[in-house]
Amino acid sequence: MPLKAVVFDAYGTLYDIQSVADVTEDAFPGYGEIITQVWRIKQLEYTWLRSLMRRYQDFASVTRDSLAYTLRVLGLACDTETFARIIDKYLHLDLYPDAATALAALKPRKLAILSNGSPDMLDALVRNSGLDRLLDATISVDAKTIFKPSPEAYMLIGEVLGTAPDEVLFVSSNPWDVAGAKSFGLNVAWIERVTPEAMALACVANELVAPLTMFKAIRTQMDELGFAPDHRVRSLSELPGIA
Ligand code: LAC
Repeated sequence: MPLKAVVFDAYGTLYDIQSVADVTEDAFPGYGEIITQVWRIKQLEYTWLRSLMRRYQDFASVTRDSLAYTLRVLGLACDTETFARIIDKYLHLDLYPDAATALAALKPRKLAILSNGSPDMLDALVRNSGLDRLLDATISVDAKTIFKPSPEAYMLIGEVLGTAPDEVLFVSSNPWDVAGAKSFGLNVAWIERVTPEAMALACVANELVAPLTMFKAIRTQMDELGFAPDHRVRSLSELPGIA
């Protein structure tokens, strides 16, 4: 089947979630990195816990709750204004530098995002970064009130774009998302931004494991779930070579 659509995960794939570190460091000097990593780890964990508990709340709420958790466990008191300033960065995350060029090179295929993000968050993010000019659709799992990697979430791609699973290339840097999409039946490209070689060097370089190294060890390496991607690339700019 020829590829009709390329569908991207948002956070960590097109948008650099590590770019919140400037804002967290500015709000709490010396704590930026640990806040950034614990926040993202807990944010993802809450999506899976809420899906298993059947207690869905949208990603905006999960993102606020996981930040509140992070600041509380680190003993950091935060006023409403500072909290709002940190959260606001989620609407202005940095795009990976090769994202816009890679998307443009993948036209005329249909291009879309399928993300756990809530519709408001995604619409603002896509508009603020200018990707609205390149994307045909921004799809939020909110319509199904369950998060990826539930099959119901990936089902939305076909429902919105009118494509069969084998006509779609799904792109994610998140290993759990790669396994979920592959298990659902999509063609999948994994953006492997952190290699095992880089991990080994980072572990040797840090006598105590730094929060970012811990995050990379548990959230950037392929999981043992029995589903491997069809393609493994190091950056978004390699996608036009495979799609
Ligand atoms: C996304 C996140 C959770 O779905 O990476 O965009």
